[in-house]
Amino acid sequence: MDAVVLNSADSGALRRAMDACPLAVLKRHALAVSSARMRAMVLPRFGGPELFESRDVPAPTPGPGEVLVRVLVSGTNPVDAKLRQDGTWAGLQPPVVIGYDASGVIEQVGPGVTDFKPGDEVFYTPEIFNNPHGGTYAELHVVSASIIAKKPPSLSHEEAAAVPLAGGTAWDALVRRLQLRVGETVLIHGGAGGVGSFAVQLAKALGARVLATSGPDNLETLRKLGADVAINYRSEDPAQVALRETGGQGVDAVFDTAGQNIPASIPATRPFGRLATILGFRGDVSGMYPCNQTLHGVFLTRERRRLEEMTLLLERKQLKPLVEEVLPLERVADAHRRLDSGHGRGKLVLTVARR
Ligand SMILES: NC(=O)c1ccc[n+]([C@@H]2O[C@H](COP(=O)([O-])OP(=O)(O)OC[C@H]3O[C@@H](n4cnc5c(N)ncnc54)[C@H](OP(=O)(O)O)[C@@H]3O)[C@@H](O)[C@H]2O)c1
Repeated sequence: MDAVVLNSADSGALRRAMDACPLAVLKRHALAVSSARMRAMVLPRFGGPELFESRDVPAPTPGPGEVLVRVLVSGTNPVDAKLRQDGTWAGLQPPVVIGYDASGVIEQVGPGVTDFKPGDEVFYTPEIFNNPHGGTYAELHVVSASIIAKKPPSLSHEEAAAVPLAGGTAWDALVRRLQLRVGETVLIHGGAGGVGSFAVQLAKALGARVLATSGPDNLETLRKLGADVAINYRSEDPAQVALRETGGQGVDAVFDTAGQNIPASIPATRPFGRLATILGFRGDVSGMYPCNQTLHGVFLTRERRRLEEMTLLLERKQLKPLVEEVLPLERVADAHRRLDSGHGRGKLVLTVARR
């Protein structure tokens, strides 16, 4: 009965039936949730940032294993802009709500969820593929409990919403795939961006020497994040700097967050060194095999464990989200114009629901 009520759009007959039931109070609450509305930024079709429309839409309800989250802050990421332009590659069909980072408060738990309760503060990055619930540019969002974690207590919701996707990607690349070790030297391309700003700090926390690249406007940011050497990719050749800084030996590891930098980084990487990219690239990588180098393609998977691992470092302040700008959800078009530029510094987040 409860499940039927929660998913029903026709509330009148159900309300009369439920009033006759001993659990009427409980069920009236369920009905109130099911007939609730919410504000969301909807994309009526794929295209430019101006297309977003603020709409009043039905609120979702959580199914088995899922939770309903009041999204206080949504993160933004370049993938949002790619999906806005044309999300068919991810199976999206407009009208659609996008947004793939959130920090908020659990409003309701679905059947079978025992490890969270209403009122818990959580942060997460929703699935992009095979996600029937859409994104986080909405006041209420349904997500599987298996990919959310308690918000780090010392972080604001603005900070927490900046972490899951970008921080998780940096974590996967450096910690799990490149397995960066104390004393090693790493070259990070795009060190001041969303992913890069986490990567520089993580690499320092792992005990590595960090060479990082950015445009001229972000060199100071790289140094503040902890980079030992800040390289202006517009005026210097990062591979030459890396060779110079390692006495001609080459770096132990390379992390390319900007794309296109893998082929040029191979001669600047030592034999048996490792490289990782989070984007596709064109070019000749045949120089890798005589040097016994390894290339990792990294695509973020969603899970709770990584969020909890990052929380340890976030609480110790070894990892601090670089939140460059906080905008209200209504200004999502401005956020997307910045995402379209490809020259972000840190993270831009959107305030969504009222607290
Ligand atoms: N595979 C995955 O799972 C995954 C996960 C997250 C992100 N991504 C992708 O990874 C990319 C980066 O994401 P992000 O969130 O870090 O983006 P972002 O915040 O826009 O940062 C991109 C950074 O790249 C720098 N950059 C631009 N051109 C460069 C170049 N030629 N050499 C070195 N740096 C350059 C920019 O620095 P300046 O402004 O100083 O030029 C900017 O700080 C995006 O395309 C995103 O979609 C993939």
